Amino acid sequence: MEGIDSTDVVTEGNEIKWSTIGKKKIFVAGATGSTGRRIVEQLLAKGFRVKAGVRDLEKAKTSLPHDNPALEIVKADVTEGSVKLADAISDDSEAVICATGCRPGWNLHAPWKVDNLGTINLVEACRKLGVTRFILVSSILVNGAAMGQILNPAYIYLNVFGFALISKLRAEQYVRESGINYTIIRPGGLRDEPPTGNLVMESADTLYQGIISRDQVAEVAVAALIRPEASYKVVEIVSRPDAPKRSCGELFSSIAHR
Ligand SMILES: NC(=O)c1ccc[n+]([C@@H]2O[C@H](COP(=O)([O-])OP(=O)(O)OC[C@H]3O[C@@H](n4cnc5c(N)ncnc54)[C@H](OP(=O)(O)O)[C@@H]3O)[C@@H](O)[C@H]2O)c1
Repeated sequence: MEGIDSTDVVTEGNEIKWSTIGKKKIFVAGATGSTGRRIVEQLLAKGFRVKAGVRDLEKAKTSLPHDNPALEIVKADVTEGSVKLADAISDDSEAVICATGCRPGWNLHAPWKVDNLGTINLVEACRKLGVTRFILVSSILVNGAAMGQILNPAYIYLNVFGFALISKLRAEQYVRESGINYTIIRPGGLRDEPPTGNLVMESADTLYQGIISRDQVAEVAVAALIRPEASYKVVEIVSRPDAPKRSCGELFSSIAHR
C-alpha cells in the first residue's frame, strides 16, 4: 500500500495544491452520517476518489452525491467483523476515515459495539489489507474522568446511554497501540450550521466545552490525511469567533505527540 505521505503534498506558501494529490482512494466509514457525508463531499471536491462505507444502501442513495464516477458506495456495517470490512475497504484504499457513531438511545450495548468494537474492527481490517493511515473522529471529554470532569453534564449524559465516551476512549487506545499511522480528532459539540468562528486546536484532554461546525470537522479530517504534522496525534477542536485564523497545517504543528 503506497499511502499518502509528505512527498504527495505540494504547497504554495501555506496553501496545499490539492490537484497534486488527487486520485488517491479514501474509505470513509459512517459516510451517510452528518459528518461522514461532509467528509465525502470535501474529499470529492479536492479530487480524491472515495469509497463510502454505509450500513444502509437505500439511505446512501438520498444522502450522498449521485453520478460521481469518483464515488463508490459499499455496504460496511462496522459491527460485522474485520473480514467483511476488509472486503468493503479493499486493498486499493490508501487510508480510512472513521466517522461512525451512535446517537444516544436506549440500546445500551450499541456504543460499545459501534464506537469501540466497530472501530477496532476497522483497524483490524486495515491491518489485514496493509492500509497504514487511519483518521478517527472521536469526541472531546472522552477522558473526562481523568480530566476531573466526571460531573460535567455532557460527560454524564453521553455515558449514561451505554458509556459512549468510555467506548470511544477504549477505541482510541486500541488505535494508538495498533502501530497504524493515526490522527484522532476530538471535536466539541457538533453543529450542522456553517462555521461561525475560527478553528481552535488543542492537545488531548484539554477542552471540556465548546462547539464546532461539522464542516470544520470534515476540513480537519481531510487536511489530516495529507499533513505529515498530523501523524500520530490526538487533537481536540472547537471553533471560537475570537480565535485567530490559522491553517490546519499550523494548528497540527502546534500539537505535541503524546
Ligand atoms: N453530536 C455531537 O455533538 C458530537 C460531539 C462530538 C463528537 N461526536 C462524534 O462525532 C462523530 C460524528 O458525529 P455525527 O453527529 O456526524 O454522527 P451521525 O450523524 O450520528 O452519523 C453517525 C454515522 O455512523 C453510522 N453508523 C452507526 N452504526 C454503524 C454501524 N454499525 N456500522 C456502520 N456505520 C454505523 C451511521 O449510519 P446511518 O447513517 O445508517 O445511521 C451514521 O452514518 C461520531 O463519532 C459522534 O459520536 C458527536
